[in-house]
Amino acid sequence: MTAPASSSPPLSPLQPDPPSRRRFYALATNLLGGLIALLVGIPGVRFLLDPLGRRQDQGGFRTLPLTLAELEVGVPRQVPIVEVRTDAWVKYPPEPVGSVWLVRQSEGSQPPLVAFSAECPHLGCAVNLAADGQTFICPCHASAFRLDGQRLNEIPPRPLDQLEVDPESIASTQTPIRVKFERFRTGSEEKIPLA
Ligand code: FES
Repeated sequence: MTAPASSSPPLSPLQPDPPSRRRFYALATNLLGGLIALLVGIPGVRFLLDPLGRRQDQGGFRTLPLTLAELEVGVPRQVPIVEVRTDAWVKYPPEPVGSVWLVRQSEGSQPPLVAFSAECPHLGCAVNLAADGQTFICPCHASAFRLDGQRLNEIPPRPLDQLEVDPESIASTQTPIRVKFERFRTGSEEKIPLA
């Protein structure tokens, strides 16, 4: 007796993908991998390069939003130092991190502008301008200073901390003033920059 003939077609052996399809899959996989690497890598590269793009931070100098022409001779002006912090993913809103006092000097003086840190060298409170406009005073323990930063009493251990002004920024009265914003150790007779 012979077995009945099957109606279904014989199984064919598995055929490998044609070469063109394999190449397409490989190309697509490589492209996808590259795209993911790019997306992940961009914020890291930005983080590394960010300081190069922040002109305000070059050498610690900050560009202030005013010019010499906007200052009156002998009338101190307090200017906040505003910082925009960024990291690899977030740009934070601008926030004040301190302030400086600017005093324009009389015509023909060199330098034409003097800048002081507003941080009291005694214990670090913010120094204010007295009502007479001729004295800086500290509300915390009554340190007092002349407009040239020299001490008027023995409470602070040293004069107000003078800050470096970019000479190019005050060569003209119309360009924004640039000041090197620094902090110094308080309670010390010496002016020691903080790292
Ligand atoms: S912190 Fe200014 S007088 Fe003490």
